[in-house]
Amino acid sequence: MENGKRRGGFTLWFTGLSGAGKTTIAEIVEHELRMRRVKIEVLDGDIVRTNLSKGLGFSREDRDTNVLRIGFVADLLTRNGVGVIVSAISPFKEVRDQVRRNVGEGFVEVFVDAPLDVCADRDVKGLYKKAFSGEIPQFTGVSDPYEAPVAPELHIKTNEEEPAESAARVVRYLEEQGFLQ
Ligand code: PPS
Ligand code: MG
Repeated sequence: MENGKRRGGFTLWFTGLSGAGKTTIAEIVEHELRMRRVKIEVLDGDIVRTNLSKGLGFSREDRDTNVLRIGFVADLLTRNGVGVIVSAISPFKEVRDQVRRNVGEGFVEVFVDAPLDVCADRDVKGLYKKAFSGEIPQFTGVSDPYEAPVAPELHIKTNEEEPAESAARVVRYLEEQGFLQ
């Protein structure tokens, strides 16, 4: 860092259960940053799985491959001054930490946290119903693990505040850290 300004970009890495609010908050942050003329790219697990990670499933190996691919692209963009917004469950700590090391200084881990029963009650996509009935195997939080971040840069509890407030906190953090000059 020089004069409090950073030359590279950043990677906002939203991790959390399905339905916790990753994509929702990411979209608000994206909108706010675009208004401020920040160069942004979005890498959302659901989208990435239709192209870059097409064909991958939800075994641990496939999830790790998916997360490492997202991390690889995020690193390329970050070092070229782009603000990257990632939304991926990324349930395994080890591989998240690997991405953190690769991206380096600009990595900002945001734990989008909501209790499992809250996510399951929301059931925005109807996936929890299928997961509990066994129709979808290896569903994160139900029949597959989610390893919560131990020391995320930001911890957002989406059952305690509105998405707009959470997004505002994320943007404020970027400001405070000198990412937005
Ligand atoms: S991962 O674990 O990081 O590779 O997952 P990700 O790429 O973020 O994809 C998660 C989205 O896939 C849908 N989906 C599932 N999620 C978890 N477990 C299982 N078995 C599963 N099957 C499909 C779901 O729409 C996830 O999106 P979000 O936005 O998290 O709800
Ligand atoms: Mg999503």
